[in-house]
Amino acid sequence: MEIVRINEDRCTLCGLCISVCSRRILEERDEAVTVTDQTQCNLCGHCKAICPEDAPQLPSLNTEEFQPVPHKEDLPQAEQLMALFRSRRSIRIYQNEAVEKQKLERIIEAGRFAPTGGNRQPLQYVVLHSAERIQTIRNMAIDALANLAKKIESAIEKVREDGEPLAESYRLIQIYVPLWREMAELQRHGIDRLFFHAPAVIICHFSPLESATPEADPGLSAMQMILMAEALGLGTCFCGFLVFATKESPELRKALQIPKDHRVPFSFMVGYPDVTFSRLVSRKAARVLWL
Ligand SMILES: Cc1cc2nc3c(=O)[nH]c(=O)nc-3n(C[C@H](O)[C@H](O)[C@H](O)COP(=O)(O)O)c2cc1C
Repeated sequence: MEIVRINEDRCTLCGLCISVCSRRILEERDEAVTVTDQTQCNLCGHCKAICPEDAPQLPSLNTEEFQPVPHKEDLPQAEQLMALFRSRRSIRIYQNEAVEKQKLERIIEAGRFAPTGGNRQPLQYVVLHSAERIQTIRNMAIDALANLAKKIESAIEKVREDGEPLAESYRLIQIYVPLWREMAELQRHGIDRLFFHAPAVIICHFSPLESATPEADPGLSAMQMILMAEALGLGTCFCGFLVFATKESPELRKALQIPKDHRVPFSFMVGYPDVTFSRLVSRKAARVLWL
């Protein structure tokens, strides 16, 4: 199948497309740019994006998305970006107000345009945006965390009895056991310490078979999404606990329609904050080796 084609009527042989093609599949031959191996194209779109004449044609991509690049002056300046990075806070107090679907769509859109290794674009999302659905998922997740708490506690008991080392996977999360117990207790009184009564939750999942860079792809999309939420006047908080719960409970994964073999790298809640911070926070000094 033809994945990329160069429109010869438009092509001026300037060579720009050849210079940006990361798969090195464009060549000038006999006064024309030819595609040496269609199967190697990763549809990154660089050839089309750089061509002043719009000669490269990629029929499987949406032509309308190849909009003119915004002027540099219209993009956020470094200080503005840093201010956004530093003022974003995890929000655990939300207004009792729904998030407009268009805003949720813009957040997903921000994730869609994050880079992925080899341009594989493996990520999929589940958006919970109804109170009933959120409640169902919350209850299942809290049950799963209670089960996980039990497993961790009996593993700790075994460590005491047999001196066996605690499994690596439990070592760092054992501190959450009392929190999960309290979470289950508060849930019985209508207090939500998992999603903090947020009106929407976004969950990411992907097949590891579709990603060559699974450590990086999800995080890049996650950050773009939460910063977009911030720019839309919304607050977010990552929910690692829901991620733990999806590992623990096949029923929960089923309820979220996440295939068995998929990974769940992150989830976060979204809503209008009902809290205002007065100051930025401090972080550890960066540990950098300059070579
Ligand atoms: C991957 C990840 C998972 C997290 N999971 C939770 C969570 O389950 N519950 C929660 O209240 N906060 C969670 N957080 C929020 C962190 O506690 C928070 O980012 C950190 O304390 C720094 O605060 P800040 O986000 O306001 O800068 C998570 C953060 C990250 C990055």
